Amino acid sequence: MNKIKNNFLWGGAIAANQAEGSFNSDNKGLSTADIQPYLPNARPTELHFNDLDREHFNEYKNGNYHYPKRSGVHFFERYKEYIDKLAEMHIETLRLSIAWTRIFPNGDEEEPNEKGLIYYDHLFEYMKEKGIEPIVTISHYEMPLHLVEKYNGWSERKTITFFAKYSEIVLRRYQKLVKYWIVMNQINLFDREGFASLGIIDEKDGKYQRQQYIALHNQFVASAKVKKIAKGINPKLKIGVMLADNLTVPYSCDPKDVNASFEYNRMQYFFSDVLLRGYYPQYALNYFKDNGISIDITDGDKEILKENTADFLAVSYYWSHTVKGDSGDGKPVIVDNPSLKKNDWGWSINANGLYICMSNYWDRYRVPMMIAENGLGFNDELTVDQKVHDDYRIDYHKQHIEAMIRAIKDGADIFAYCSWAPFDIVSAGTAEMKKRYGFIYVNYDDEGNGNGALIPKDSFYWYRDVIDSNGSMI
Ligand code: BG6
Repeated sequence: MNKIKNNFLWGGAIAANQAEGSFNSDNKGLSTADIQPYLPNARPTELHFNDLDREHFNEYKNGNYHYPKRSGVHFFERYKEYIDKLAEMHIETLRLSIAWTRIFPNGDEEEPNEKGLIYYDHLFEYMKEKGIEPIVTISHYEMPLHLVEKYNGWSERKTITFFAKYSEIVLRRYQKLVKYWIVMNQINLFDREGFASLGIIDEKDGKYQRQQYIALHNQFVASAKVKKIAKGINPKLKIGVMLADNLTVPYSCDPKDVNASFEYNRMQYFFSDVLLRGYYPQYALNYFKDNGISIDITDGDKEILKENTADFLAVSYYWSHTVKGDSGDGKPVIVDNPSLKKNDWGWSINANGLYICMSNYWDRYRVPMMIAENGLGFNDELTVDQKVHDDYRIDYHKQHIEAMIRAIKDGADIFAYCSWAPFDIVSAGTAEMKKRYGFIYVNYDDEGNGNGALIPKDSFYWYRDVIDSNGSMI
């Protein structure tokens, strides 16, 4: 007995900015994702889209680059074909996001864009018709560019109001079609994916870290407000907070490594501590003090955080991280783990890390959880007879689903598993197509060329069997 509940949801996850394309159709505004260029000569292990965007921020006005997320994999026009293929794979849920810029093209308008709203009416209705439950992320790395340029993204408090208004519109509109909502994608990756999630362009004279924590505080308050708004609309709606698992193991038993890992991990729990427990923990307040970070946390903020903790925890898990206490200059550093194999992008495979993190989150919070993303990027080969033999992908998912089942057997309440991504989409970090995750090959290349055919890989049939057996074949 694998102890997976009968109503467990097997599925996949995608994001609007990496899949939809049609970046200026139906009045859509420009988002941070739309200005991320494809850089063919960059070393894949060094590509990071927050630095990349900031460095190339003004370049988008000159149009010197190819911007893959502007066309994605044409999900916007072709969504029925994609949903049909997912239904063929017997997928039960698809986690996907709404593009904020389809609903509020600039982010600060008075009225929403009706055409954008109609698009998601059709999409969610079609998913329901095909028996696929939508799990919707309200913000997945694509804030309106206008809010970045005019308000310096989330560092301005007004952004809370804009986001709350956008959230209210979509929660109200889709309440009958969508039960599960994730407010922000991977709220804890604000450092690595900072530009994409916080939209800070003005670093305020080297006080960037302070700006980041102010922006993050505004996201916390906005998340709690969204929970309050949702319950006012329909108490049955479930509102989640999401983390990218980033917990570390120490490089060795040297007390410096052990302590660095402990401190690093605690600042990872910080995000969910605030959103699931409802207050800033003392260790975080101490960290701010020690690092000269002052944040204006009002009594009103404290109250809204306290009274509106999230209903569930969504976790994305890809790879595991190892930390060394002293990198030579006395500062801790994330290093390679020599015991683990990596993919071409340097992401190391460690399924047991999924077991450990889900067990730790369960022990700490005791709230329902879902695996919001799990997968690894591979450069697949399409054979002449149009097949992809991706045993490595089957192997990766098998090991990770096994790890999830172990956590469930130990008591963790996990209600869904979403692979990232069930079909190939543009990479968030590198803007490549060749960093493929799907069970379905999507025939576009890095330049956006190709016939776009949707070709089931070997893993497609394997995952269908997993779903059909509710995981018992693992
Ligand atoms: C997650 C993001 O962190 O990682 C996704 O939520 C992203 O948007 C995924 O696609 C994989 O990263 P990448 O850079 O390989 O696409």
